[in-house]
Amino acid sequence: MIRTKVLGLGSYVPDRVVTNEEIPFLDGRHVRQQTQQTETNDQWIQQRTGIKERRYAPNDGSVATSDLALEAAKRALADAHLQAGDLDCIILGTLSPDIHFPGTAVFLQKKLGIAQSTNCACFDIRQQCSAFVYGLQMADAFIRTGMYKRILLVGAELHSHALEYNNRGRDVMVLFGDGAGAMVLGPMETDDPRAGVMYTSAHADGSGALDLYLKIFEIAKLPYLDYDATDRERNEFMYPKMDGKRVFLNAVRGMVMSTQAALAKTGLGWDDVQWFVPHQANLRINEKVVEVAKIPHDKVLNTIQFYGNTTAATVPLTIDYWRQQGKVKRGDRILSSVFGSGFTWGAAIFTL
Ligand code: UT7
Repeated sequence: MIRTKVLGLGSYVPDRVVTNEEIPFLDGRHVRQQTQQTETNDQWIQQRTGIKERRYAPNDGSVATSDLALEAAKRALADAHLQAGDLDCIILGTLSPDIHFPGTAVFLQKKLGIAQSTNCACFDIRQQCSAFVYGLQMADAFIRTGMYKRILLVGAELHSHALEYNNRGRDVMVLFGDGAGAMVLGPMETDDPRAGVMYTSAHADGSGALDLYLKIFEIAKLPYLDYDATDRERNEFMYPKMDGKRVFLNAVRGMVMSTQAALAKTGLGWDDVQWFVPHQANLRINEKVVEVAKIPHDKVLNTIQFYGNTTAATVPLTIDYWRQQGKVKRGDRILSSVFGSGFTWGAAIFTL
C-alpha cells in the first residue's frame, strides 16, 4: 500500500522582533514614532491573546511572501536531502499573495530555479489559517494515487505590510506576524495503516465568510477597486476586518470537534500521539481547546507567544521550532487541528 511520508520540514521567520511595547508606536511603514499611533499595550495584548512579540519582514519593497516561502522551502528540501529539481508539485497556502494573480506558487517555483523544468505543477490554495491541513489532504491524495511523487507544501505569510496601524485596526493588527513553514512529502510502500499521514479532515461553513475577511476589491462592482488611500471611509477595504468574538467561539468549536473526530475515526488515544499542534491564532483559544477536548497539557506545542499568528505557516513553523529545541523528534506522531477564515477548519494525524 502506498502511503504519504513526511520527507523534510523547514521554517523561516524574519529577523526583526516587534514586541508588544513597540507596537503602539509603529506607523504603517513599521517606523517607530515618538508619539503613540495606536492605543494598545502589552498587558491588553498578553491577557487577551498570549502574544508577547512577533516577527516583521522589512517594509522597503525588497521582500515578498514568496521570499519567505523560499527560505522555508530550501530548509525543508535540505532536511529531505532533495534538490528543488526533484519536486513535481508545489502547493502553497497564503492569504497575503505576492500579487492578485498569478498565484504565489509560481513565483516560488521560479525563485527555486525550477521554472524552466515544466515538470512541477503549482497550486495556490486559499484556506487561510486552515491551509496546512487542507494542503496536506490534497498532497496525501495526490501521492496515494501516484499523481505526484515529491510535493512541497508551503504556508507563507507577509502580514505586516497589510495591517492597519491605528485604533481602527488594532484588534487584528496585534495578532499577526510574518513567517513561513514548509514540508516535503513523498510516497512510501508500507502495510502499516498508522504510518505516515494517517488521517486528514477538512471542513467549511461559508456562512462565516464575512466574519473575518480582507476585501481589497469587489469584482461584482464597477469600479471594482474604489478606494483612496487618504480617505478613511474608502481605504477600509485595504485592511482585514474581523468579528473577533464570533471567530473565537467558532474556532474553539471547530478545533475541538475536529480533534475529537480525528481520534474517534482512527481509534487512537492520547497515548498513541506525542504532540498536539493547534493553529496559532490566540493562546486563549488553544487553552480552551485543550481544556474542552481534555488534551494532556504536556503534549501541547505553541509558538504564538513569540511568532503571533502566521496563518498558513503556523503548524509547520511550530513543529519545526520545537524540533529545533529538541522536543519533537523524527518518528513522533502529531495531531494538528486548525481553524480559519471562511470559516474553514480540519485536523490531521501524521508521523514526522
Ligand atoms: O486564525 C483565526 C484568526 N483570528 C482569531 O482567531 C481571533 C479570534 N478572536 C480573538 O482572538 C479575540 O476576539 C481578540 C483578541 C481579537 C479580541 O479579544 P476580546 O476579548 O474578544 O476583546 P473585544 O473585541 O471584546 O474587545 C474588548 C475591548 C474593546 O473595547 P470596549 O468596547 O470594551 O471599550 C475593544 O475596542 O478591547 C478593545 N480592544 C483593544 N484594546 C487595546 C480591541 N483591540 C484592542 C487592542 N488593544 N489591540
